[in-house]
Order: sequence, then C-alpha cells, then structure tokens
Amino acid sequence: MFTIDLNGKTYRAEEDMNLLHFLRDELHITSLKNGCSEGACGACSVLVDDKATRACLLTLARVSGRKIMTVEGLPEREKEVYVRAFAEAGAVQCGFCIPGMTISAKALLDKKPDPEPREIKEAIRGNLCRCTGYVKIEQTILLAAKMLRGEAQPKPSTEAGIGMSFWRIDTAGKVLGTGQYADDMHMEGMLYGAVLRTKYPRALVKRIDISAARSQPGVEAVMTADDVPGERYSGFITRDWPVLVAAGEETRYVGHALALVAARSRRIAREALGLVKVDYEELDPVTTTAFALSPDAPSIHSKGNVLSTTQINRGNAVEAVTKSAYVVTNRYVTPHTEHAFMEPESSLAVPQGDGGIAVHAGSQSVYEDRRGIASILGLPLEKVRVVGKLVGGAFGGKEDLSVQHHAALLAMGTRKPVKLTLTRQESLLVHPKRHPMEIEMTTACDDQGKLTAVISRIIADTGAYASLGGPVLQRACTHVAGPYRVPNADIKGWAVYTNNPPAGAFRGFGVPQACFACETNMDLLAEKVGISPWEIRYRNALEPGKTMATGQIAGDDTAFKETLLAVRDIYQASHFSGIASSIKNTGLGVGVPDTGRVKIVVRNRKVLILTSAACVGQGLATILTQVISETTGLAPEQIEVGDPDTSLTPDAGTTTASRQTLFTGEAARQAALLLAEDMKHAPLAQLEEEEYLGEYTAQTDPLNSTKPNPVNHTAYSYATHVVLLDDQGRVKKIVAVHDVGRAINPKAVEGQIEGGVAMGLGYALREKFPLEKGVPTARFGALGLFRSTDMPEVEVILIGKNTSSLGYGAKGVGEIASIPTAPAMNSAYHRYDGKVRLSLPLADTPYEKA
Ligand code: FES
Ligand code: FES
Repeated sequence: MFTIDLNGKTYRAEEDMNLLHFLRDELHITSLKNGCSEGACGACSVLVDDKATRACLLTLARVSGRKIMTVEGLPEREKEVYVRAFAEAGAVQCGFCIPGMTISAKALLDKKPDPEPREIKEAIRGNLCRCTGYVKIEQTILLAAKMLRGEAQPKPSTEAGIGMSFWRIDTAGKVLGTGQYADDMHMEGMLYGAVLRTKYPRALVKRIDISAARSQPGVEAVMTADDVPGERYSGFITRDWPVLVAAGEETRYVGHALALVAARSRRIAREALGLVKVDYEELDPVTTTAFALSPDAPSIHSKGNVLSTTQINRGNAVEAVTKSAYVVTNRYVTPHTEHAFMEPESSLAVPQGDGGIAVHAGSQSVYEDRRGIASILGLPLEKVRVVGKLVGGAFGGKEDLSVQHHAALLAMGTRKPVKLTLTRQESLLVHPKRHPMEIEMTTACDDQGKLTAVISRIIADTGAYASLGGPVLQRACTHVAGPYRVPNADIKGWAVYTNNPPAGAFRGFGVPQACFACETNMDLLAEKVGISPWEIRYRNALEPGKTMATGQIAGDDTAFKETLLAVRDIYQASHFSGIASSIKNTGLGVGVPDTGRVKIVVRNRKVLILTSAACVGQGLATILTQVISETTGLAPEQIEVGDPDTSLTPDAGTTTASRQTLFTGEAARQAALLLAEDMKHAPLAQLEEEEYLGEYTAQTDPLNSTKPNPVNHTAYSYATHVVLLDDQGRVKKIVAVHDVGRAINPKAVEGQIEGGVAMGLGYALREKFPLEKGVPTARFGALGLFRSTDMPEVEVILIGKNTSSLGYGAKGVGEIASIPTAPAMNSAYHRYDGKVRLSLPLADTPYEKA
C-alpha cells in the first residue's frame, strides 16, 4: 500500500506506478503535463516536500508518505498572485509549460522571497518552454516575488482597445491548469489507443498478423488497413499518405502506421502492440535527395521522386551576373528541425448516436481535420464534428492529421470513446519536420553594391509524403532574394521525396532556409564591395513602390528601412555584431482561396465571438476581444470567445502563414461593424440572439501570373535582427526589430518575437534532428533546445506605421520572428573569427554540441 498527501488530502494505491500517470490518469489531476515522460521538459513538475521535482521520474514507492503539491493545491492568494503576474508580464502563450513553471517559481520564492534574476533562470532551468524564450516568464517570477512581498499589485485594464497590452483572457486557465488540452480529457468507459509503426523506413510489408493481439484480455479492437471504411490516403493537396499501410505495400518512413489497438488501459494497448506480428522484407531506404533524383533510385511514389518544382524568372539574371562588378556564389545546407512543441499530439474521439463522430483535438484547423477524418471514415461532413482543445504549441507541426484519424477509426470500430496520445518519442517519429534544403545561391551587384541579380537552385528533402512540401518550396523560392530590390532573378526549386521523415510546415515555411543563404551571401558581397553589411542592406532595401524579385510592388506599409535604421547605431558601435534581415508573407496568397470568418452572437447581454481559427499560443482570443471592443466600444467583460467547433463556428481557415490576426482579425472587425451599426439603434439587451457574420477574403494572384506586377500576397512583414557577441564568442544580446504593421497587443507581439528569437537561436547554434538511414535517433532531451540559462538578453523594437484599416493595420509576426536570427548569428561569427559558415547549426561556436 502506498500513501501520499496530495494537496492536503490523503490518497492510497495498492500497486506501485509512475507518479505522473497516477496523478493524471487515476486522480485526473491535470495541471501537470506529460511533455516527455523522460525528465527532459519539466512540464510534470510537482513539489515533493517543498522541492520542485519531475513527477515522470518518480514512482509511488519513492514518494509514499511524502507531501506532494500541484498547482491545484496552491493557497488561493498564491493562485491569484501567479495568475496576475503571468498576465501582467504577458508570459503565457500555448500554456503547456506554465503550471510546471509555476511550481518551479513557488519552490524558489518559498525559499528566496527576493531572488536575483540569475537565480530565477536557474530555478526554471529544468522547465522547457518553446514559445516565450523565457523572457517574460522570468519577469513574471520577479513580479510574483514583489507581489508576495506586498510591493506590487497589478490590476487588469478595464479597457481592451487596439494597441493596448490587455491581459490575455486565457491566462488563468493556463496557469491553474483548468484549461483543457486533449489529453486532459477523460470519459467514463473511455478506451486508450495505440499505434504500431513500421520498424523500417522502407520495407515491403508481407503479412500483418493481429490474432494474438486481438485475443489479449482488455483489448477491444485491433485494426489494419482492411478496416478503413473510406479513403485510405490523406493529405492537404496531394493525397499520398496512407492512414494505415496494407500487407503487400511498401512503408515509406518509420512513422508509418501498420495497426491500431484500442484497449481498456494505456498499458494493455501498448502491450498488445508487441503481439502484432509483421513480416517485412527490408529494402534499402532512399535517404538523400541526390540519390532520389538519380536514375538508379527506386520510385518512392508512382509518379516518381519529384513532388513539385517552382520557377521564378525576371529579367535576364545570367547576363546580369556576367556584367556585374561583384559576384558571390555559395552552396548552403540546412538540416531537419523538430518543432518540439511541448504538447505531444492527442485526440479523443467519441461516437455519436446518429452514426457520426465527435473528435476533440488540439488542432491548427478543425475544418481541415474534419475534411480528412470524414473522407477516411467514409462519412458525410455533417456526421463529423471536430472540437478544438487548447493547443500546446504547434509551429506548423500540427497541420497534418497525426492522431485524430486513428482515434476516430478506433472509436468507430469499438463504438466507444477512444483517446490516443502519442508518446514523445512517437511524436518525434510521426509529424513532419522542417525541410532540409541545399541551396546554391549566386548574388551579384554593381560597384556601388546595388544588387543586379540573384540566381538560386533549391533542393528540398520533402521526405516520405507531400504534406505541405510544395508550398514550402514555393515560399523558399519566392523569398530567397530577400527583402531587396532585385531586377533580375532566376530561381528554381525541387521538392524531392525520400524515405526520410516527411517535411512540411514549420514556422517560417521554407523562408528560414532561404534567408540563411540570401543573407550570408549579402554579407560576403558587402565584403567584396568594401561596404558594411548594414550598408549593403540599406542600399538595396525594399521600400514603398519598389519591385520585389517576384514582381510584386511593395505596399505603402513597407517599413523595412525603418528596421535597419533602428539598429544602425548598435550594430555599428559593437565589435562583434552580426546583422540579417527578412521578409515574410502574411496569408496563403498566390491565388489560393484564403478567408477569415467570425460570427458574433449576442447572448445574455454579452457578445460571443465564434470562429474556427485556432489559438496555437499566439493569443487569438485576446486579439479578437480587442478588435471587437475597439470597434463596438463594448467593455472586455461583455465579450466572450468560444472554442473552435465545426458544429458552431464558421470556417476561418488554418492557423498558418502568420495569417490569423490579419484575416480573422479583419473578419471580426467586419462583424463588429455590423453589430456597432445595430447598437446605434438598440441596446445590447434588445439584440439578444442576433448574429453578425464577418468575412475577409484576400484577392491574390498566382505565382508567375501574366500580370507585370502581380499581388502574390496581401501583406508582407519585415524584420532585422542584430546579434552581439562577447569576447568569448557567446551571445550577449539580440536586438530584434520588426515591422508588424500595427501591434494590436504590444506585449503579446513582443512575447511572440522573444520566443521566435529563442527558436532561431536553437536553429542557428544547436538544434539537430539526426537520422541514421532515415531513422531519427534523437530523444527529446537531446534536440539542443535552448533553456532559460542559455538565453541572452533580447530587446524587441516594434515598428508600426501601417495606417490601413484592414485588420487595424496588423501584419503577421508569428513566423518572421524566428527567421533572421540564424543568418544574423552567422554574420556575427564571421565578424568574430573570419570564418565562412555555410551550414546550420553553425560549426565552431561555443554552443556546438559534441
Ligand atoms: S514529462 Fe516529466 S520532465 Fe517531461
Ligand atoms: S508557453 Fe511555454 S511551451 Fe508554450
């Protein structure tokens, strides 16, 4: 018998088990999260006898007789302090790490009521956060300390207009753990799903024998490809990804599903996987794009190994290069990168009485999920309801179906609710990564440093499946000339299938790779001309009315030069400084239908905002509250926001391409204008159950349209990052200047940029996702993610000169925040030691991992 005192109550258990599983699965204490189950992330932090400890590394036997506290057990006063401190600092994004951070903060402040900043960094060193860059979390802890000492009492603003750092409305739920992520859900009689995946990236599956697994006590269903009632292949644009691989077919990567199990416990489900017998004929995997493109390579898909190509031609680049005064040519190589969102994929599927199904998931788009699930189940769309839960980070990695369809298949097969949550290791195996790219880049200029031409050839390893590989390659090609006036461009790219993990959407969508090549070449060109890296950027900067390499004319909102001017002094005054700039589109663009939608319903004298647009941590519900408040004059407490739900909320498209603040923000403004008009004639009380639909669709032109100056994207953001190194080559400070159009909530924008910089630092200096013959070998703790103690000072400067009423002037910031950091770092190290580095992560830095 094991006894623990949890949050002041005594609990007993007959059998020993892992403490995290006991608390979450048996007692349904869900503030602590399962981010990795291997002691690497700190999301499961609890206090054991007042010491912050990771529950996933403990068993009941080890804590029996001891006092355990989770966030649920904090004294009421402290709950209020932490909620207010997190809100005031603007430190909550996806929220998955936050209860664990709170526990670490409490452990520190109980001992050290007036901590030094360095002690705060140390206290949360074991807690990973992928969203915030830790800056605002550290500020939260300093503020909480002051509040607990009675020296501060921040209060929420009673106004929520545009440009105000209004407290995020999801703060309390995320700090106290009452907000629900999919894996926090529990239903009586619920089954647990598990997925058998192939052992080999490329193998012929000869036979799958599920008989032993099926007869295992506690197992309620074992399913294979034969049990898929509808379309067995899924995918956004190209449906090439089988939901389950059938006997007689080849596997294409190690994340491939062969069989699904539903059982009465997580343990039984996983044990049953071991009873499924699979006969394989192992085949040599195709692991390089060079081999995939060679005539000897086997075809990974029936149409061959090239998923897509992109071409951009303006002027005569070849001739312009030959006539140029200076030319730089290099070949750049960038790696696979793992999103490392803190919440592993999870979904709960529940059969409905009408023969349909409801699927709960932390999704980037409930409507895309619904389309995919309905097609796989062979059900009409109206029989599939997808409900969005909190998303514990996504960064593009939750665009594809990962667990939703498998949970749905098992639920339909058993007619019972089934929850399927990936282990961290499975999550690493399954979802698409950032594309590795090889980029040949020629940049040429005249004797004054004015760009004359860019020639680029980009090969992207898109792995086993299309996912969003085609559009990612396209964005790499459209952005490889950078935020500059380039009169001649010859750009071509190929997305190539291999047996490596699929590559797809990842913050930046092909632009981080392209920017690394473009910006490094810019520095080397400046060297040849004899001007500074800052100067060559300024001389060539896009400004309103100037033409991009794609032919689009930069709009009046373009404030790229302003970002350069903001860093000029600090860049020039520092000994080992580096600089890089970037451009990034907002919205899908290139003629693809792209619409934001919001419905406002007046209910109980309040307005309820309904939209399917997912908050993946960026704070969309808060932004929409501000938009509605600004437009109607309603106070924030009169505004509520519903969860994404295909049965209730209009389709606002995917949270991708940095689009939601502009697209769904503008849709909210349109809906609010209609409401405001009615409010001129009637008080809210008389508008009960009135509905107002707002919609915004961007009109864009396809790439290579015949127009001389096509509008490929409705808006572009610009940024310049400056990196300052100390004498030992460590990063002392990063200054990130962003043209965001107009900041709807400056603190939220700053937080996104700080987090983006942290991600960019990892990409530049340390993050790796190594493969051995196509098989990922890294564990979560070995990815090289930056921890609090690794972070340098980050200063964010926002440039907001967009006076457009469209979306109140907002432009996307989610992706560009992490794009220029890596080349800026490369620029700084080049200045530091004179070496030219052409691959990521950068070699020969103090951050390089053995
Ligand atoms: S879940 Fe325990 S450290 Fe990650
Ligand atoms: S807020 Fe920390 S992981 Fe998202």
